[in-house]
Amino acid sequence: MANEQTGSNNNEEIERVWWKEAVVYQIYPRSFKDSNGDGIGDLRGIISKLDYIESLGVDVVWLNPIFSSPNDDNGYDISDYQGIMNEFGTMADFDELLKGLHSRGIKLILDLVVNHSSDEHRWFRESRSSRDNPYRNFYHWWPAEKGKPANRFSFFDVNNDAWKYDDRTNSYYLHYFSQKQPDLNWENPHLRNEIYRMMRFWLDKGIDGFRMDVIPFISKDTSYPPIPEQYHNDYARYYSEGPFLHKYLKEMNREVLCRYDIMTIAEGIGVNNETALNFVDPERRELNMLYHFDTLGIGLLPFEFKAPDPNGYNLIDLKDVFTRWDYTYAEKGWGTVYLANHDNPRMLTRWGNDSEEFREVSSKLLTTFLLTMRGTPYYYMGDEIGMSNIKFDSIEDYQDIETRNMYLHIHRTGGDTNRFIENQKITARDNSRTPFQWDNTDNAGFTQNGTTWLKVNKNYNKVNASSQEKDPGSILNYFRKLIKYRKSDLTLIYGTYTLIDRENPNVYAYKRQLDDEVLLVVLNFKPHESTVSLPDIDLSSAKLIISNYEDMKGRYDKLRPYEALIYAL
Ligand code: NOJ
Ligand code: CA
Repeated sequence: MANEQTGSNNNEEIERVWWKEAVVYQIYPRSFKDSNGDGIGDLRGIISKLDYIESLGVDVVWLNPIFSSPNDDNGYDISDYQGIMNEFGTMADFDELLKGLHSRGIKLILDLVVNHSSDEHRWFRESRSSRDNPYRNFYHWWPAEKGKPANRFSFFDVNNDAWKYDDRTNSYYLHYFSQKQPDLNWENPHLRNEIYRMMRFWLDKGIDGFRMDVIPFISKDTSYPPIPEQYHNDYARYYSEGPFLHKYLKEMNREVLCRYDIMTIAEGIGVNNETALNFVDPERRELNMLYHFDTLGIGLLPFEFKAPDPNGYNLIDLKDVFTRWDYTYAEKGWGTVYLANHDNPRMLTRWGNDSEEFREVSSKLLTTFLLTMRGTPYYYMGDEIGMSNIKFDSIEDYQDIETRNMYLHIHRTGGDTNRFIENQKITARDNSRTPFQWDNTDNAGFTQNGTTWLKVNKNYNKVNASSQEKDPGSILNYFRKLIKYRKSDLTLIYGTYTLIDRENPNVYAYKRQLDDEVLLVVLNFKPHESTVSLPDIDLSSAKLIISNYEDMKGRYDKLRPYEALIYAL
């Protein structure tokens, strides 16, 4: 494990880059704010909350897909890349939102979903209509007279089968996700040109970059050979190493990205420490950042779908993942830090403690972690007020295609559906998609009249933005304070990261250093008192600058439950 210092530590050598200094705030539009009472969040809802977003101090907003979509997978199935989803509003609303963000000094990145489209996209309707349609090769087809193609695993298919037979042309099409998300054929240059044209359309409107959905999956071996044995427990690895992936990313950079001052972030599914720099080494001219999936399995049981270990997770595993990734970018490239997003449960439930006793203090601890690591933080909406998992008891309450189809799969294959529902209380994606809790009025102030598209968490009476607004010691105001602090000190952005006391199972401690400035971050991840060993650190003149306990009486040698302390040494 790399405990050495990493990265440059000389202030004068630093080449400052805006997206390295940014805090990204992720908004799931369906769940942020409903403006017209249909129970679904929308663009005008976001516009009405621009002052709130500005008040957080964040620099960039990442919006999940807002494009026309039949919503098989909440917008990750796009039927028109240049249209706005009816439920979300109009292009005029979008233009107003972009302007509103920019006038507040906030940048906007959109979700680029180009591994697949919706089956309702015009390209796919053309493509499936006949074998000689000009759009046929915009997708991956396999003629049925050749028999069934070699197995491909689908993440959302009830039978896990990524080939769907289509009788119109007696052929199978490929869908790594749901049957309504056919994979686009990047091997076809016409398709690539259409995508680049569409990207320029949005960039010319003035957006500031893209978050790229499952982008490592875009290149496929179109002879579709059987997947080699070594990938059978990890299809994502196989899918993320297609033969021409980096050729396409370089081309995309040349044709589109390099012409704008923007940021790009890949959803790094299947990417590991050995392959990451192939995406983000600046000399390769591909993308700026990616986010890895290495924390996802921590504290989960093997061989079962997203099943939490009843003993919780091992903090050392978490430290090792973050430390290894910091080391990956020691010389070049740039990392990202996140604990939650729309594909994961709430960070408070998954990594902190959502009990009444520890909700506040452990939320603040996780926020301290996210905003003091090296790498651009991606912070998910609602985490700044300590929202927690809703923990639905019934499959009927779930909307997510992943949960619903996996439930059917388990049901059909004779598995234990009750156990699955218990596991989903901790790990399901819908946990992070419940409506944002604005205040303690009906529906948490998310919608005026409507029934919400997904149930509101009943704890909104206690957990909401409005009550925290007034409380200087709230989770919300702590988040704002930490953002201000991160911005005030380049050490937190460009300083090296050094892990301390790795074997400590309770406390995550590290140093950040730039030139002569050294900061020490000490985080007790447990609901009990803990200590940390800091043998080589001179604490004689250490000054405590931040604490998540109001009395500021923290002691690194006797940490209180979930205590987070930042010292200047
Ligand atoms: C990753 C997205 O983040 C997720 O929400 C979606 O279901 C899949 N990609 C498919 O687009
Ligand atoms: Ca609405």
